[in-house]
Amino acid sequence: MDTQAILDSLDLVAERSEDPAPQVYRRLFARYPETEALFIGDKRGAARGQMLRQAVETLLDYLGPNAFAANFLRAELRNHDDIGVPAEIFPAFYKAMAEAFAEITGEAWTPAMQAAWDEITGEIEVIVAAPAQAI
Ligand code: HEM
Repeated sequence: MDTQAILDSLDLVAERSEDPAPQVYRRLFARYPETEALFIGDKRGAARGQMLRQAVETLLDYLGPNAFAANFLRAELRNHDDIGVPAEIFPAFYKAMAEAFAEITGEAWTPAMQAAWDEITGEIEVIVAAPAQAI
């Protein structure tokens, strides 16, 4: 995993966008239109912003010490299942992040960044599909 490419991509996004959340969620909702209605109570986008921050923090932990990422994802899978979010949308959320970040980053988005984000999406797919004891 090219961790540096992910970190560089996040730096670029932070430099080039004050708030990437609208672009991330636009892509998620385009692919999974049924999920938009779940955020009906999130009028000002605070929950969406918080969720995106947590997803990035989880990714950073996963790439580093991996102290909580897998357990946290598993716990969130359960919490989200209760509100009607199926597990398969978790990797799709990371894919939506990658697409939005590529859009924001523009010409500075490198093949290494794309490859690293593709790899992350694949690994999240494995984590959410794995039985708890296998993680
Ligand atoms: C790594 C993946 C994810 C993490 C870490 C995560 C985390 C969170 C957190 C922390 C909240 C509470 C936010 C707050 O109220 O301040 C939340 C709420 C929520 N999440 Fe996620 N989430 C993830 C993936 C998803 C996905 C893929 C969906 C599907 C669309 C989703 C749908 C929701 C909804 C509908 C809420 C409630 C929003 C509201 O309060 O109106 N989450 N999530």
